[in-house]
Amino acid sequence: MNKTVRIVLNGQEREVAAGSMLASALLTLGVRGFRRSVKGELRGPLCGMGVCQECRVTVDGRPHSKCCMIVCRDHMKVETE
Ligand code: FES
Repeated sequence: MNKTVRIVLNGQEREVAAGSMLASALLTLGVRGFRRSVKGELRGPLCGMGVCQECRVTVDGRPHSKCCMIVCRDHMKVETE
C-alpha cells in the first residue's frame, strides 16, 4: 500500500499522506487561504467536521467542496484562492 498520493494543487503536483483529509493535507502543504469571503478576506478551515463551510475549495471541477470531509485521492485536482 502506498504511503502517499499525488494531488494537483493549483496546477502543481504535490505529494500528501495517503488517507489524509484534504483540509489537513493542504494545511500541511502550507496553504492558509482556502477561499475568499464576500468581503475578499482569506478563509480557512475552522471546525474540521463539515459544519462551518470555511474550508470550501474546488475539487475535480466541483466548486464549494468542503475539503475537511474529503479523503485525498491520487490525481485529485484541487483549486484554492
Ligand atoms: S472546516 Fe468547517 S466545514 Fe470544513
